[in-house]
Amino acid sequence: MLMGNFLKNRKSVRDFKKKKMDDRTKTEVLEIFKDLEMEVDNKYFNFILFEEGEKIYNVLNGLAGYSGVMIESPCYIGVRLKEVNDKSIITASYYTEKLMTLLTHRNLGTCWVNIKDVDRGVKVKVLGEENKNIGYLVALGYPKAKNPFVQEPTSSRYGVSDIVFKDKIGNSINAGELEKRGLEDLFYYIRFAPSNYNLQPWRFIIKDDKILLLLKYSEEGKTDLMDAGIIMYYFKELGKVIGIKSEWQLLEKEDIECGDSRYRVIAEIKL
Ligand SMILES: Cc1cc2nc3c(=O)[nH]c(=O)nc-3n(C[C@H](O)[C@H](O)[C@H](O)COP(=O)(O)O)c2cc1C
Repeated sequence: MLMGNFLKNRKSVRDFKKKKMDDRTKTEVLEIFKDLEMEVDNKYFNFILFEEGEKIYNVLNGLAGYSGVMIESPCYIGVRLKEVNDKSIITASYYTEKLMTLLTHRNLGTCWVNIKDVDRGVKVKVLGEENKNIGYLVALGYPKAKNPFVQEPTSSRYGVSDIVFKDKIGNSINAGELEKRGLEDLFYYIRFAPSNYNLQPWRFIIKDDKILLLLKYSEEGKTDLMDAGIIMYYFKELGKVIGIKSEWQLLEKEDIECGDSRYRVIAEIKL
């Protein structure tokens, strides 16, 4: 499973060389932006390349990222929504993760950076008036070489049984049934998807011939639809290998409660 191995080995890159992209690579990257925007008829988002990495880092350090820890990189990609609604957010994050995958294949490293809480005035100053509502950047550049003798820290992941259920949330599904349905590898690998704060909020309910995607509310009572788009992208890619051709359908349904936890219903896909 090519995509499976890719996912298992992918990692957010937070340590970049100072080196900028050469003109050929930059042209290729801009072409990928256009191709991905066009895949959804230019309706939902634009990718913007910010090349003044140093300036952006200096202004956003202390304000953006987790607890103000900005990722330093030679350039950044802005994910600008055309309209703020659930469909746009999910589509933009789906295609941003696709973009990050394509960039990794070109030996570039990437990391999502949350700038939702940065003051709009600051964003105007550093990204421009038209980009003041951007909520996420992607740090982009060439990863620094790793020391092969040093074990890199890895982010932990839930087990398949923590995120996949049968018929209703909390009702475990056995490995034999997942295997019979050909879904064992897909759910093994999909756990390596990135998520905000590595919260891994995705939950899947397998019911008859459908899979329902839910997001678990955080302790602060929040969900982030960016996490939904990302996992839907990897599900589609891993699903292709086992012949799942259908598309995700977004749903508007009541939240589901189970014990102390609450879940937001996001979408379903037919097997
Ligand atoms: C929507 C989103 C926002 C993120 N924001 C940040 C961020 O602001 N700073 C950061 O260091 N990492 C950020 N990350 C990266 C996650 O922390 C990372 O994906 C997760 O810890 C798993 O690690 P891995 O990507 O190396 O597998 C973000 C990831 C996602 C999906």
